[in-house]
Amino acid sequence: MAIEGGAVVSTSANLTELETRALEAAINVADGHARQYLTPAQQQIVDDFPRLFKEAERMSYPELNARAMRALMRALGQHEAPIAESRFLTCYASSVAMEILARALSDRFRSVGLIHPTFDNIPDILRGLRIDLTPLGEPALLSGDVSDVLPPGVGCVFITTPNNPTGTVLPEERLALIARACEHRDVVLVLDTSFRGFDPRAQYDHYAVLERAGCRYVVIEDTGKIWPTLDLKLGCLVLSDRIDLPIARVYSDILLNVSPFVLAMVEKFAEDAAGGGLPALQAGIAENRRLLRSTLAYVPNVSFPDPDSRVSVERVLIGDGRDAVAAWETLRQRGVHVLPCRPFHWANGSEGDAFIRVALARPPAVVEAAGRALASALTARA
Ligand SMILES: Cc1ncc(COP(=O)(O)O)c(C=O)c1O
Repeated sequence: MAIEGGAVVSTSANLTELETRALEAAINVADGHARQYLTPAQQQIVDDFPRLFKEAERMSYPELNARAMRALMRALGQHEAPIAESRFLTCYASSVAMEILARALSDRFRSVGLIHPTFDNIPDILRGLRIDLTPLGEPALLSGDVSDVLPPGVGCVFITTPNNPTGTVLPEERLALIARACEHRDVVLVLDTSFRGFDPRAQYDHYAVLERAGCRYVVIEDTGKIWPTLDLKLGCLVLSDRIDLPIARVYSDILLNVSPFVLAMVEKFAEDAAGGGLPALQAGIAENRRLLRSTLAYVPNVSFPDPDSRVSVERVLIGDGRDAVAAWETLRQRGVHVLPCRPFHWANGSEGDAFIRVALARPPAVVEAAGRALASALTARA
């Protein structure tokens, strides 16, 4: 799908282009960025920003970096994550981490197995570096013969967990099995865990599992989806000991350091998350999910294909042969921006044609208004 002057004109727009359109909209439930209200405790941290800025100015960068990462990993249950500077590379955002990783992978590998569906900038960045992709469907990742996850010739397996847009989480025993198979075949295992803050089932200690398996791994951690900090955020590349990829070199081609202020802010938000902020966030998302589902409950043949999802986005199966791009266009004309799911299905776009994605990290009134608008658009077309 591509858009020109507001109209859908072809089939090549990526999700971020659609999300950019939504930035000016009255009701924007398109992007997965965190746009919910700050909690009172988070507001206090923000009120204290001038003092935090001064503190960040005075402190040494390595110390700030280590403190922020330790606090973040503790909040997310990742107690065995390596915090050493050589193994924890902080970036401005997870897309920057992804670009760095992809460039390093392209130095060694021609072929990567990638979860399907997933957020389209992951396949786009990999393909941009001429890496061939093999789709790994969620059912094969979750059960069955583990060798199906490691097709011949693939040098790296890339899994988003929890996945965007489905919310699917790779359970601990399955991660252990895949990690052991990767070790056996010397395949690099990459995890994008950007959405793990929303789901306690994704907060078992992944690093303990990966270290036990002894595989080569890279984990992309992210703060950008969880806290409404106006996109002051970090993405991180966490590396196994003997990764043997030029990641640090590519990192140094792209950046020297992230903002010390953002590191100081992340430490404070992570401490708050560990002290109750994370359950509060999860409760807010659950409430918005209930709200969205209830606004759509009366629309015939609309359903929610991810009943167990806890992430901050919700897929809606619009049913009755309705087309998601047409629904997206109707809503867009009414000032309401959602995402049609076609681009998530990077290997077979038509699989996404019946799904709309609605972002839930918003004030409840925004989610409710979006749900009502979607219900109205779908009933008008039924
Ligand atoms: C799974 C996943 N990883 C990475 C990103 C990129 O995040 P950012 O735009 O903060 O760099 C996204 C964006 O939605 C995502 O869904």
